[in-house]
Amino acid sequence: MSTETEMSFIHRFEPATASGSVPLVLLHGTGGDENDLLDLGRAVAPGSALLSPRGRVLENGMPRFFRRLAEGVFDEADVKRRASELADFISEAQARYGLEKPLALGFSNGANIAVATLLLRPDTFAGAVLLRPMMPLADMPDADLRGMNILMVSGAMDSIVPHANAARLAAALSERGASVAHEILPSGHQLGQADLRLARDFLARL
Ligand code: MLT
Repeated sequence: MSTETEMSFIHRFEPATASGSVPLVLLHGTGGDENDLLDLGRAVAPGSALLSPRGRVLENGMPRFFRRLAEGVFDEADVKRRASELADFISEAQARYGLEKPLALGFSNGANIAVATLLLRPDTFAGAVLLRPMMPLADMPDADLRGMNILMVSGAMDSIVPHANAARLAAALSERGASVAHEILPSGHQLGQADLRLARDFLARL
């Protein structure tokens, strides 16, 4: 495995060790980086290639995937621009590393940029695992998500993502044709073992 800086995003890439496994794009939360979700990726998708970019926006020194004006209040023009940059990076990485269309696995801010990318550049991902996501755009664009499997995992006591927001997101993705499993755990915003089990079981069934 290596850390690469010459492509458009600083990232880490781990090649697949099992043939036929779908690659995962790992998208970290606020203040994380390209190293954060590698263990999680290995645990939920053993043998899969892992592509893990670092968000290019800095908020008080903390990497993120798009700008926000306050907690839960997003700079939507930036969301759109960054989703497009991420989609371009993923195509670039697919060509460079010889990857088939990947699944997204994102946590918090990383889940939110995954949603924006699903909606704005629906050819980028084959499906997604969204851990503690929320609506990244007030007006969700139309997109054809038919045939896409999405797991959303929310926390019943999440102080960052209101339950109604997560429910609206699940409905919006379903309305666009995705097959959405929305699980709600008795937890807050942080991840735990139950998230790992749900993600692993979902990926194993694909
Ligand atoms: C976001 O900014 O994307 C969400 O508020 C989640 C977070 O990163 O705190």
